[in-house]
Amino acid sequence: MSAKTIDGKKLAERTRAEIAAGVAALKAEKGVTPGLAVILVGNNPASVSYVTAKEKACRDAGMISCEIRMPADAAEDAVIDAVKSLNADSTIHGILVQLPLPKGISEKRVIDAISPEKDVDGFTPVNVGKMLIGEDCFLPCTPHGILKLIEESGLDVAGKHAVVIGRSNIVGKPVAALLARKAPHANATVTLCHTGTPDVSVYTRTADVVVVAAGRPNTLTGDMIKPGAVVIDVGVNRVSDPTKPKGYRLCGDADFASCAEVASAITPVPGGVGPMTITMLLWNTLESARRAAEGAA
Ligand code: GUN
Repeated sequence: MSAKTIDGKKLAERTRAEIAAGVAALKAEKGVTPGLAVILVGNNPASVSYVTAKEKACRDAGMISCEIRMPADAAEDAVIDAVKSLNADSTIHGILVQLPLPKGISEKRVIDAISPEKDVDGFTPVNVGKMLIGEDCFLPCTPHGILKLIEESGLDVAGKHAVVIGRSNIVGKPVAALLARKAPHANATVTLCHTGTPDVSVYTRTADVVVVAAGRPNTLTGDMIKPGAVVIDVGVNRVSDPTKPKGYRLCGDADFASCAEVASAITPVPGGVGPMTITMLLWNTLESARRAAEGAA
């Protein structure tokens, strides 16, 4: 079998066109332009490139993008003060603090300072809790994008076995929770594998969909999956490659070649999950601006 490649870029383009139309309508009807503020502390190269991509996507959709850059040795309280002033700024509807933060700055304290109404990453305890109990909230962007990509593959996960590899707060835990929800495009039987799982392949071999978010290349190989499975690869790893201009190339957590032999559909890296993460960030920012416009009306 040769898998269909799930084109995250195309799906992102289609969804962003809908978002841009929503932004234009909100401007025309309510005079409100959605605004996203991004706080970047330090200059981790991967973070710089993510933030640049997020800001460009924001402007392309007709939103206001505002970047606050702080040095790597910024004081924790200075970062928290920046968050607080954005909380109070009515032109800003979404606040994103790019993670990871430099050593010495508590991510917990900084995230806790973000107003849940502007938490378009869905990282605050209020939004995580609401997601878990099924209340209306901002869904975290990567997990939300993953649900859309699974939908795009044509697989309805209801009653199916979904295996998630990785238990991060940003991806693994929320994806597992969302796939298990009693809701359309969910209702799966979910297994969450992690570094404490002695043999992940015991579970992946019976999985109809595998979401791999382990942060390690070759975590999932073709011999570990069942024929026809859908593979969603969340990994973004830089592996050195002297033949490339930058001296490295990107690869996911799945071995694409061997998985594509066995799977029915698989996301590529790059061009799979990444574009959808940014798209769902725009989605949440538009939603936040709509709520603010309703509240102000
Ligand atoms: N670092 C890696 N992924 C993310 C994300 O989705 N949001 C933020 N804020 N930081 C990240």
